[in-house]
Amino acid sequence: MEKEIINQIEIRSVSKQFTIDRKKVDVLNDIDLDFKQGEFICIVGASGCGKSTLLRMMSGLEPIETGKIIIGGEEVTAPTLKTGMVFQESRLFPWLSVEKNIEFGITTAGKNKKSAESKKELVNNLIRLVGLKGFEKALPKQLSGGMQQRVSIARGLINNPEVLLLDEPFGALDAITKINMQNEILRIWETEKKTMVLVTHDIDEAVYLGDKVIVLSSRPGSVRKIIHVDLPRERDRNSHDFAAVRYKIYKEFFKDAKIKELEYYI
Ligand SMILES: Nc1ncnc2c1ncn2[C@@H]1O[C@H](COP(=O)(O)OP(=O)(O)OP(=O)(O)O)[C@@H](O)[C@H]1O
Ligand SMILES: [Mg+2]
Repeated sequence: MEKEIINQIEIRSVSKQFTIDRKKVDVLNDIDLDFKQGEFICIVGASGCGKSTLLRMMSGLEPIETGKIIIGGEEVTAPTLKTGMVFQESRLFPWLSVEKNIEFGITTAGKNKKSAESKKELVNNLIRLVGLKGFEKALPKQLSGGMQQRVSIARGLINNPEVLLLDEPFGALDAITKINMQNEILRIWETEKKTMVLVTHDIDEAVYLGDKVIVLSSRPGSVRKIIHVDLPRERDRNSHDFAAVRYKIYKEFFKDAKIKELEYYI
Protein backbone atom coordinates (compact mmCIF):
# COMPACT_ATOMS: atom_id res chain seq x y z
CA MET A 1 0.00 0.00 0.00
CA GLU A 2 1.27 3.47 -0.84
CA LYS A 3 2.41 5.41 2.20
CA GLU A 4 0.05 8.23 2.97
CA ILE A 5 1.75 11.60 3.00
CA ILE A 6 0.25 13.65 5.78
CA ASN A 7 2.41 16.72 5.47
CA GLN A 8 3.29 17.52 1.93
CA ILE A 9 5.97 19.98 2.96
CA GLU A 10 8.13 19.57 6.04
CA ILE A 11 10.67 22.22 6.91
CA ARG A 12 12.92 21.01 9.68
CA SER A 13 15.32 23.25 11.63
CA VAL A 14 16.28 25.23 8.53
CA SER A 15 18.77 28.04 9.02
CA LYS A 16 20.64 29.98 6.35
CA GLN A 17 23.71 32.17 6.32
CA PHE A 18 25.08 34.13 3.40
CA THR A 19 28.55 35.57 3.18
CA ILE A 20 28.53 39.18 2.06
CA ASP A 21 31.91 40.93 1.80
CA ARG A 22 33.50 38.08 3.79
CA LYS A 23 31.07 38.62 6.67
CA LYS A 24 28.54 35.98 7.58
CA VAL A 25 24.97 37.21 7.64
CA ASP A 26 22.24 35.17 9.32
CA VAL A 27 19.22 35.22 7.04
CA LEU A 28 16.97 32.46 8.37
CA ASN A 29 16.99 31.05 11.87
CA ASP A 30 15.70 27.60 12.79
CA ILE A 31 12.56 27.44 10.69
CA ASP A 32 10.18 24.55 11.42
CA LEU A 33 6.98 24.34 9.40
CA ASP A 34 4.51 21.73 8.16
CA PHE A 35 2.12 22.29 5.29
CA LYS A 36 -0.63 19.87 4.33
CA GLN A 37 -1.47 18.75 0.84
CA GLY A 38 -3.77 21.25 -0.87
CA GLU A 39 -3.28 24.01 1.68
CA PHE A 40 -2.95 27.64 0.66
CA ILE A 41 -0.08 29.03 2.69
CA CYS A 42 0.90 32.68 2.82
CA ILE A 43 4.22 33.84 4.21
CA VAL A 44 4.56 37.46 5.31
CA GLY A 45 7.53 39.29 6.75
CA ALA A 46 9.55 42.47 6.43
CA SER A 47 11.74 43.11 3.41
CA GLY A 48 15.01 41.20 3.72
CA CYS A 49 13.77 38.70 6.32
CA GLY A 50 14.51 35.77 4.00
CA LYS A 51 11.13 35.01 2.38
CA SER A 52 12.52 34.60 -1.15
CA THR A 53 15.47 32.64 0.22
CA LEU A 54 13.12 30.20 1.99
CA LEU A 55 11.06 29.75 -1.18
CA ARG A 56 14.20 29.23 -3.26
CA MET A 57 15.36 26.61 -0.77
CA MET A 58 11.99 24.84 -1.09
CA SER A 59 12.36 24.88 -4.87
CA GLY A 60 15.87 23.41 -4.68
CA LEU A 61 17.43 26.50 -6.29
CA GLU A 62 19.25 27.49 -3.10
CA PRO A 63 21.38 24.90 -1.26
CA ILE A 64 20.13 23.77 2.16
CA GLU A 65 23.14 23.48 4.45
CA THR A 66 21.45 23.50 7.85
CA GLY A 67 18.28 21.49 8.45
CA LYS A 68 16.21 19.86 5.77
CA ILE A 69 13.14 20.32 3.62
CA ILE A 70 11.02 17.34 2.63
CA ILE A 71 8.45 17.65 -0.14
CA GLY A 72 6.12 14.76 -0.93
CA GLY A 73 8.23 12.47 1.24
CA GLU A 74 11.53 13.29 -0.49
CA GLU A 75 14.30 15.51 0.78
CA VAL A 76 14.96 18.51 -1.47
CA THR A 77 18.54 18.52 -2.72
CA ALA A 78 18.12 20.01 -6.22
CA PRO A 79 15.31 21.49 -8.34
CA THR A 80 12.54 18.94 -8.71
CA LEU A 81 9.40 18.48 -10.79
CA LYS A 82 7.41 18.42 -7.56
CA THR A 83 7.55 22.20 -7.35
CA GLY A 84 6.83 24.99 -9.80
CA MET A 85 7.96 28.53 -9.15
CA VAL A 86 6.55 31.96 -9.98
CA PHE A 87 9.22 34.57 -9.36
CA GLN A 88 9.02 38.04 -7.81
CA GLU A 89 9.51 39.55 -11.28
CA SER A 90 7.80 37.84 -14.23
CA ARG A 91 11.07 36.69 -15.92
CA LEU A 92 9.54 36.18 -19.36
CA PHE A 93 11.71 36.05 -22.46
CA PRO A 94 10.81 39.26 -24.36
CA TRP A 95 11.46 37.64 -27.76
CA LEU A 96 9.21 34.62 -27.15
CA SER A 97 5.43 34.52 -27.59
CA VAL A 98 3.08 33.62 -24.73
CA GLU A 99 2.87 29.99 -25.84
CA LYS A 100 6.64 29.68 -26.33
CA ASN A 101 7.33 31.27 -22.94
CA ILE A 102 5.02 28.74 -21.30
CA GLU A 103 6.41 25.80 -23.28
CA PHE A 104 9.92 26.85 -22.33
CA GLY A 105 9.14 25.74 -18.75
CA ILE A 106 8.87 22.09 -19.82
CA THR A 107 11.94 20.42 -18.37
CA THR A 108 14.18 18.25 -20.48
CA ALA A 109 12.85 15.24 -18.58
CA GLY A 110 9.32 16.17 -19.55
CA LYS A 111 10.26 17.19 -23.10
CA ASN A 112 11.67 13.80 -23.98
CA LYS A 113 8.46 12.14 -22.92
CA LYS A 114 6.03 14.45 -24.73
CA SER A 115 5.14 14.55 -28.39
CA ALA A 116 4.80 17.95 -30.08
CA GLU A 117 1.04 17.47 -30.14
CA SER A 118 0.69 16.68 -26.43
CA LYS A 119 2.95 19.63 -25.62
CA LYS A 120 0.71 21.92 -27.65
CA GLU A 121 -2.38 20.58 -25.91
CA LEU A 122 -0.78 21.06 -22.50
CA VAL A 123 0.18 24.65 -23.32
CA ASN A 124 -3.30 25.37 -24.70
CA ASN A 125 -4.96 23.99 -21.58
CA LEU A 126 -2.81 26.20 -19.38
CA ILE A 127 -3.48 29.24 -21.56
CA ARG A 128 -7.18 28.59 -21.06
CA LEU A 129 -6.72 28.03 -17.32
CA VAL A 130 -5.01 31.40 -16.83
CA GLY A 131 -7.48 33.21 -19.10
CA LEU A 132 -5.16 34.15 -21.97
CA LYS A 133 -6.99 32.55 -24.88
CA GLY A 134 -6.49 34.64 -28.01
CA PHE A 135 -3.08 35.90 -26.81
CA GLU A 136 -1.06 32.77 -27.67
CA LYS A 137 1.11 34.59 -30.22
CA ALA A 138 1.48 37.85 -28.29
CA LEU A 139 4.90 38.97 -27.05
CA PRO A 140 5.31 39.94 -23.37
CA LYS A 141 5.58 43.67 -24.24
CA GLN A 142 2.12 43.41 -25.83
CA LEU A 143 0.62 42.27 -22.51
CA SER A 144 -0.36 44.15 -19.36
CA GLY A 145 1.47 43.42 -16.08
CA GLY A 146 -1.37 41.18 -14.87
CA MET A 147 -1.36 39.22 -18.13
CA GLN A 148 2.41 38.74 -17.88
CA GLN A 149 1.98 37.30 -14.39
CA ARG A 150 -0.68 34.93 -15.77
CA VAL A 151 1.94 33.67 -18.24
CA SER A 152 4.37 33.15 -15.35
CA ILE A 153 1.73 31.21 -13.40
CA ALA A 154 1.06 29.00 -16.44
CA ARG A 155 4.80 28.40 -16.78
CA GLY A 156 5.00 27.48 -13.09
CA LEU A 157 2.29 24.86 -13.66
CA ILE A 158 3.68 23.37 -16.89
CA ASN A 159 5.25 20.29 -15.32
CA ASN A 160 2.13 19.58 -13.26
CA PRO A 161 3.91 20.15 -9.93
CA GLU A 162 2.42 19.14 -6.58
CA VAL A 163 3.37 22.49 -5.11
CA LEU A 164 3.31 25.96 -6.64
CA LEU A 165 5.68 28.44 -5.00
CA LEU A 166 4.80 32.07 -5.66
CA ASP A 167 7.16 34.88 -4.69
CA GLU A 168 5.20 38.14 -4.42
CA PRO A 169 3.51 37.38 -7.74
CA PHE A 170 1.23 40.44 -7.61
CA GLY A 171 3.62 42.86 -5.91
CA ALA A 172 4.10 45.05 -8.98
CA LEU A 173 0.44 45.25 -9.99
CA ASP A 174 -2.03 48.10 -9.45
CA ALA A 175 -4.66 47.64 -6.74
CA ILE A 176 -7.54 46.58 -9.00
CA THR A 177 -5.50 44.17 -11.13
CA LYS A 178 -4.10 42.72 -7.92
CA ILE A 179 -7.59 41.97 -6.58
CA ASN A 180 -8.54 40.33 -9.89
CA MET A 181 -5.38 38.23 -9.85
CA GLN A 182 -6.01 37.16 -6.25
CA ASN A 183 -9.40 35.83 -7.34
CA GLU A 184 -7.76 34.17 -10.34
CA ILE A 185 -5.18 32.37 -8.23
CA LEU A 186 -7.95 31.12 -5.91
CA ARG A 187 -9.85 29.83 -8.92
CA ILE A 188 -6.73 28.06 -10.21
CA TRP A 189 -6.06 26.62 -6.74
CA GLU A 190 -9.62 25.30 -6.54
CA THR A 191 -9.41 23.81 -10.05
CA GLU A 192 -5.92 22.34 -9.84
CA LYS A 193 -5.89 21.33 -6.14
CA LYS A 194 -2.20 22.18 -5.76
CA THR A 195 -0.53 23.16 -2.55
CA MET A 196 0.21 26.88 -2.86
CA VAL A 197 2.92 28.72 -0.94
CA LEU A 198 2.70 32.42 -1.61
CA VAL A 199 5.06 35.05 -0.25
CA THR A 200 3.70 38.55 0.09
CA HIS A 201 4.30 41.92 1.76
CA ASP A 202 0.60 42.54 1.66
CA ILE A 203 -1.22 41.52 4.83
CA ASP A 204 -4.67 41.92 3.26
CA GLU A 205 -3.61 39.61 0.45
CA ALA A 206 -2.45 37.01 2.98
CA VAL A 207 -5.75 37.13 4.89
CA TYR A 208 -7.75 37.01 1.66
CA LEU A 209 -5.89 33.99 0.26
CA GLY A 210 -4.38 31.92 3.02
CA ASP A 211 -5.60 28.94 5.02
CA LYS A 212 -2.58 29.70 7.18
CA VAL A 213 -0.49 32.85 7.40
CA ILE A 214 3.10 32.41 8.54
CA VAL A 215 4.49 35.60 10.05
CA LEU A 216 8.28 35.76 9.95
CA SER A 217 10.28 38.06 12.20
CA SER A 218 12.74 40.52 10.66
CA ARG A 219 16.20 39.26 9.71
CA PRO A 220 17.21 36.67 10.61
CA GLY A 221 13.76 35.41 9.73
CA SER A 222 12.24 33.03 12.24
CA VAL A 223 8.64 31.90 12.63
CA ARG A 224 7.00 34.50 14.83
CA LYS A 225 3.46 33.22 14.56
CA ILE A 226 1.25 30.87 12.55
CA ILE A 227 -2.23 32.27 12.11
CA HIS A 228 -5.07 30.03 10.91
CA VAL A 229 -7.59 31.91 8.83
CA ASP A 230 -10.87 30.14 9.44
CA LEU A 231 -13.00 32.40 7.27
CA PRO A 232 -15.20 30.92 4.55
CA ARG A 233 -14.40 31.87 0.95
CA GLU A 234 -15.17 34.10 -0.83
CA ARG A 235 -13.86 36.32 1.93
CA ASP A 236 -15.26 39.75 2.55
CA ARG A 237 -12.40 42.20 3.05
CA ASN A 238 -14.77 44.63 4.76
CA SER A 239 -16.13 42.22 7.33
CA HIS A 240 -15.40 42.44 11.03
CA ASP A 241 -13.94 38.92 11.07
CA PHE A 242 -11.54 39.79 8.26
CA ALA A 243 -10.44 42.90 10.14
CA ALA A 244 -9.89 40.86 13.28
CA VAL A 245 -7.47 38.48 11.51
CA ARG A 246 -5.76 41.41 9.80
CA TYR A 247 -5.26 43.05 13.20
CA LYS A 248 -3.77 39.88 14.66
CA ILE A 249 -1.19 39.78 11.87
CA TYR A 250 -0.37 43.49 12.07
CA LYS A 251 0.23 43.07 15.77
CA GLU A 252 2.76 40.31 15.13
CA PHE A 253 4.28 42.08 12.15
CA PHE A 254 5.05 45.26 14.03
CA LYS A 255 6.00 43.76 17.38
CA ASP A 256 9.67 44.67 16.82
CA ALA A 257 8.84 48.26 15.95
CA LYS A 258 6.27 48.61 18.76
CA ILE A 259 4.03 50.59 16.48
CA LYS A 260 1.42 52.46 18.44
CA GLU A 261 -0.91 53.36 15.58
CA LEU A 262 -2.26 49.84 15.25
CA GLU A 263 -5.75 51.03 15.99
CA TYR A 264 -5.79 52.61 12.53
CA TYR A 265 -6.05 49.17 11.05
CA ILE A 266 -9.19 48.03 12.82
N1 LIG B 1 22.67 35.04 -3.14
C1 LIG B 1 22.82 35.81 -2.06
N2 LIG B 1 24.04 36.11 -1.60
C2 LIG B 1 24.20 36.87 -0.48
N3 LIG B 1 23.18 37.36 0.23
C3 LIG B 1 21.95 37.10 -0.18
C4 LIG B 1 21.69 36.32 -1.34
N4 LIG B 1 20.33 36.21 -1.52
C5 LIG B 1 19.80 36.91 -0.49
N5 LIG B 1 20.75 37.44 0.30
C6 LIG B 1 20.53 38.22 1.52
O1 LIG B 1 19.59 37.51 2.30
C7 LIG B 1 18.68 38.40 2.93
C8 LIG B 1 17.27 37.94 2.63
O2 LIG B 1 17.00 38.10 1.25
P1 LIG B 1 15.61 37.66 0.61
O3 LIG B 1 15.66 38.04 -0.81
O4 LIG B 1 15.35 36.26 0.95
O5 LIG B 1 14.61 38.60 1.43
P2 LIG B 1 13.03 38.82 1.24
O6 LIG B 1 12.41 38.58 2.55
O7 LIG B 1 12.56 38.05 0.08
O8 LIG B 1 12.97 40.39 0.91
P3 LIG B 1 11.95 41.19 -0.06
O9 LIG B 1 10.67 41.25 0.70
O10 LIG B 1 12.59 42.54 -0.17
O11 LIG B 1 11.86 40.47 -1.35
C9 LIG B 1 19.02 39.79 2.45
O12 LIG B 1 19.75 40.43 3.46
C10 LIG B 1 19.90 39.56 1.25
O13 LIG B 1 20.91 40.55 1.19
MG1 LIG C 1 11.82 38.56 -1.80
